[in-house]
Amino acid sequence: MSKALKLGVAGLGTVGAGVLNLLRQNAEVIAARAGRPIEVVAVSARDRARDRGVDVTGLAWHEDAVALAADPNVEVVVELIGGSEGPARKLVEAALNAGKPVVTANKALLATHGAALAQLSEAKASPLAYEAAVAGGIPAIKALREGLAGNRISRVAGILNGTCNYILTEMRVKGLPFATVLKTAQELGYAEADPAFDIDGVDAAHKLAILAALAFGHQVDLKALHIEGIRNVSALDIALAGELGYRIKLLGIASQDEAGVTARVHPCMVPEASPIASVDGVFNAVLAEGDAVGRVVLQGRGAGAGPTASAVVADLIDIARGRTAPVWGAASATLATAPGLPMERHRGAYYLRLMVLDQPGVIADVTGALRDAKISLESMLQRGRAPGEAVPVVLVTHECEEAEMQSALARIAALPSVVEPPAVIRIEEL
Ligand code: NDP
Ligand code: HSE
Repeated sequence: MSKALKLGVAGLGTVGAGVLNLLRQNAEVIAARAGRPIEVVAVSARDRARDRGVDVTGLAWHEDAVALAADPNVEVVVELIGGSEGPARKLVEAALNAGKPVVTANKALLATHGAALAQLSEAKASPLAYEAAVAGGIPAIKALREGLAGNRISRVAGILNGTCNYILTEMRVKGLPFATVLKTAQELGYAEADPAFDIDGVDAAHKLAILAALAFGHQVDLKALHIEGIRNVSALDIALAGELGYRIKLLGIASQDEAGVTARVHPCMVPEASPIASVDGVFNAVLAEGDAVGRVVLQGRGAGAGPTASAVVADLIDIARGRTAPVWGAASATLATAPGLPMERHRGAYYLRLMVLDQPGVIADVTGALRDAKISLESMLQRGRAPGEAVPVVLVTHECEEAEMQSALARIAALPSVVEPPAVIRIEEL
């Protein structure tokens, strides 16, 4: 067998330790598929004394991660530190500049600097692979960039954040509070170093920006996205969604038509019968619609050591075999910039949950605001009676435009009988 491919791994946290473990555990099968052994020779992390559940004896240790790029024993740099700036960015740029292939799981970096990194990768003929950056163990990048390469893609969407899906599932199934489930997700290694990236929808937005660039042949463009997270999804809304026959999911949805690209991340209500509704826990789903293939749906674990290491190792095997592709599927110079459409143009149905004082005339005021914005109602639900006190009122609308909904909401929120900001969740028929 040929000589080993030598790796320098920066970051020995959930993913880094997972990669070292997987390379050892499946060394034989990996070597057979790669055509040569794949061996870690050097590593970097912050705390040398930390027990990571992985033996690093005999490996060169670099205090400065960027030094891995210049280490003559390192042929491929694996960046698993995270973050769009700082050591992760410096290391990736240094490695590409040094002509070394890079494998990373860093969606923040790709979504923020993907255009420049693709140009650098091309200029230096250094591959940049990032299968692990989107949807953990699901081979979503390979599927879009290679498997569906013959299609014009009109829509790409999915459950793209394992932490949020885990939180929403545990809240619904076990009735656990948000903060308790988030803590468990962190302990399980699902969450980002700063979990606000997960729960505020930013991590899903990074992934959607990457998928949209691949799907539509555009430069990656994070700024074009509308982003909302799950902080405001309450246990009450989860329960009411169930009564109405829906599940609440944080979805990323990007679509392209003649007018441009719409890309949005926000909580959605999906019908319980829809396949995506039963993708629970840390599982992700990625859906693509192509003109030749129709609809393709992939699902699997979206976070955690094993699934993410699986994707990193797949990239390493490709590099060992010399199978490389342009970062965004086509040469940078051929990529268009995406004309992003504003969220106000979105059309869809809406769930509104209001806390209103139980007194005469309230519903007339609310429905009057909807009528004036030309929004028609599909159904209405009021639970309980508590004269003079606040009760939840749920309204489900027919399809309308986001701009109309926002104008109606501004009026509804200002009504003296509406005692809390309205909860608004868009309904998606995925
Ligand atoms: P962790 O926080 O668990 O690990 C980060 C590692 O980076 C730690 O080992 C840390 O060292 C090391 N590190 C931090 N700063 C430096 C530095 N300046 N120099 C060298 N090493 C440094 O993160 P994850 O493993 O969860 O995530 C890594 C990457 O993978 C991120 O980009 C993340 O978005 C991505 N990812 C994560 C997934 C997951 O399920 N966790 C799934 C898919 C992608 P020390 O241990 O000493 O503190
Ligand atoms: N924090 C991310 C998630 C890790 O929960 O999906 C996987 O990218």
